[in-house]
Amino acid sequence: MRTHHCNELQSSDIGKTVTLIGWVNSNRDHGGVAFIDLRDREGLTQCVFRPEISPKIAELAKSLRHEDVIQITGTVAERPEVDGNSTINADIATGNIEISATELIIKNKSEVLPFQLDKEINNEDMRLKYRFLDLRRPVMARNMKLRHRITKTTRDVLDEDGFLEIETPILSKSTPEGARDFLVPSRMHPGNFYALPQAPQQYKQLLMCGGIEKYFQIARCFRDEDLRADRQPEFTQIDIEASFVNEDDIINLVEKLIGRVFKESINADIPASFERISYFEAMNNFGSDKPDRRFGLNLTDLADVFANSEFKVFSGALKSGGCVKAINAKGFSGASVGQIDKLEKAAKEAGARGLAYIQVRGEDISEWRSPIVKFLAPAELEGLKEAMNIEVGDLILFGAGDWDTVCDVLGRVRLMCAEFQNLLEGNTDLDFLWVTEFPLLAYNEEDARWHAVHHPFTRPIPEDEAKLIAGEYEGLRAQAYDVVLNGYELGGGSIRIHEAPLQDAMFTALGVTAEEKQTMFGHILDAFSFGAPPHGGLALGLDRIAMLVCGSDSIREVIAFPKNNRGSDLMSQSPAEVDFKQLRELYLKTTKKQEKNTKES
Ligand code: AMO
Ligand code: AMP
Repeated sequence: MRTHHCNELQSSDIGKTVTLIGWVNSNRDHGGVAFIDLRDREGLTQCVFRPEISPKIAELAKSLRHEDVIQITGTVAERPEVDGNSTINADIATGNIEISATELIIKNKSEVLPFQLDKEINNEDMRLKYRFLDLRRPVMARNMKLRHRITKTTRDVLDEDGFLEIETPILSKSTPEGARDFLVPSRMHPGNFYALPQAPQQYKQLLMCGGIEKYFQIARCFRDEDLRADRQPEFTQIDIEASFVNEDDIINLVEKLIGRVFKESINADIPASFERISYFEAMNNFGSDKPDRRFGLNLTDLADVFANSEFKVFSGALKSGGCVKAINAKGFSGASVGQIDKLEKAAKEAGARGLAYIQVRGEDISEWRSPIVKFLAPAELEGLKEAMNIEVGDLILFGAGDWDTVCDVLGRVRLMCAEFQNLLEGNTDLDFLWVTEFPLLAYNEEDARWHAVHHPFTRPIPEDEAKLIAGEYEGLRAQAYDVVLNGYELGGGSIRIHEAPLQDAMFTALGVTAEEKQTMFGHILDAFSFGAPPHGGLALGLDRIAMLVCGSDSIREVIAFPKNNRGSDLMSQSPAEVDFKQLRELYLKTTKKQEKNTKES
C-alpha cells in the first residue's frame, strides 16, 4: 500500500511519484492550501494539497482529523521559499522535501481523541486505558524498537556461543520460598492448582541434568508482590544456565552480552569488564547491595570517634557489637525541616530508632543545628570533623545500631539526599558493577528461621560446604553474583548445588521437612542423584535493561501492555469477575461478598 515509509524521502528523491500511508499527525490550512503531516512508525512527511492541482482533494484534506488513516499519492518536491524564508524543517528527517499530493484516499476515520498524541501526557491511567493510542507516540515506538533490538541481540550473542533457546512450562508447580505465586486451578484435578513460574529456575537446572549444557530463554515470570516502578507482576527475564562452568565463565559471558546489547541498541561503548565488589563492601560503603555509585555520600565508620562517648545512643550501639556510621551530604546544611522529617521517617520505616543529624551552618560549633551536638565532647567533635571532612554547608546524618540496619537505613537516606539535592541531574554515566560474595543464608527473627538470600539452589563457597552439612549456618558465603547498573539490579545468578546430599542439607537449613523434601523437591533431588553435571547461571531483567537503555524511569514505559501499580490492566479491565459456571467447572467457590457481585447464570 506504500512505496516508501514516512521517514525516508530525501532531496535525491525529488521528482519521484510516491505513495505513502499512515495517520494524520497534524492538519493546517494556509489560505486554502492544506498541509498534513503524515505519520507512520518511522516518522513524518509533510504532504501539501493545493486547490490548483485538485480542488476536490484539497477540500477533502481540510476535513481530515487527527489520527484519520489516509493513503496519498503525489510528487516529491523541494520545500519552497515563502516571502524569502526557507520552509525547510531541520527537526525531521524528511524536512527538506514535501509531497505535492495528487490523490487522497481515506482508509479509516478517527473519533475525537481522548488525549493529544504529540504532547506529554501526565495522566498514566489514561495512557494505559488507551494504550493502543499511546503506543503510536514516537517515544513509545522508539522504546518498542529498542526493546526488540535488545532481544534480537541477546538471541544472536547467545546463539553464537552455542546456547539453545528452550521453552519451559508456564503451568508449573508452587514451591515455597520466593515471592507469592499466582495460582491456576485445574479442572481435571479438582482442588489442585498449577502455579505460574516465578522464574524457570528448577526447569533450567533440570535441563542441565538433561545434558543440554547451554540453555537460554526469553522467559516470562510471574510474581504476586507489591509493585514499584521497576517491578511488574509479570515480567521478562533473559534466563541463562550452563554446565561445566565457574563464576568467571558466567560473568564473562554476561559482560559480553550486555556490551553487545548497549552497542547495538544505543551505540554505547561500555567497559569490557565491570568492577567487582563484595556484598560487604557494597553494604558497608553504600548501604545497598545494588549501589548507585554515580555520586558520593559514602557511609563513614565512626567507631573510633565514639567508642567512649557519653552519648549512649552511639557508645551503647558500639558496646553491644553494632556500629555508628554517618554520611556527609555536602552543601545540604540548608535542608528544610520538612526534608529532615522525610529523611527521619524513611529511617524509622527501615528500622532505625532515630536519625541524628548536624546542619553545619557556620565555622563555630555554636552555629551547628543539631539535636545531638550538646551530648558530644569537644574531642569527639574534633574527631568527627576530621573523619567526615566537615566544612561549612554540610549536613551530617548518623545511624547507630546493628550493622545490617545501620547500613540499610543510611543507604536509603543516601539515595533520598541525592534526590533532594538533584545530584544526578544531567548525569549520563553508565556505572556497571558486579556485587559478589553474598551471604548464603539470612536469619529471620520474625519466623525464627533461616532463609536463602538468593534461592535454595545456590552453592556455598567450597570452604563452607562442610559447615552447611554440619548445620553451622552462621556466616556462610554463597557463590552468587548480581550485576548492577546505576543503582538497579539488572540480574542475579549463582553457581548451583548439583549433588543430592548437599541440596538435602540446604533444604534442612531452610526448615523443609523430610516429607516436604519429597513432595515439593523430590524431582530435583532425584535428578541430582543420577550424575547431574556441575552448573550455574544467571537471569537478567529484560524490562529493566530496556528501561535503562531507553532512559525511562519505569519499566511500564518499555512493556507494551503493562499493569498499573495496583496490578490492573486498565485497557482490558483485568482482573475481572468470571461467570458462576466457570467457577463451578473448576470446583471453586468465592466468599459470600464476592459471590453477590458475580452474576449467576
Ligand atoms: P532474581 O529473582 O534475582 O533471580 O531475578 C532476576 C532478575 O529479574 C528481574 N526481576 C524483575 N523485573 C521486573 N519485575 C519484577 N517483579 C522482577 N523481579 C525480578 C531483576 C532481577 O535481577 N532464577 C533466578 C536467577 C538465577 O539464579 O539464575 C532469579 O529469578 O532484574
Ligand atoms: P534521643 O536521645 O533518643 O532523643 O536521641 C537524640 C537524637 O538521636 C535524635 O535526633 C534521634 O533521632 C537520634 N537517634 C536516636 N537513636 C538513633 C539511632 N539508633 N541512630 C541514629 N540516630 C538516633
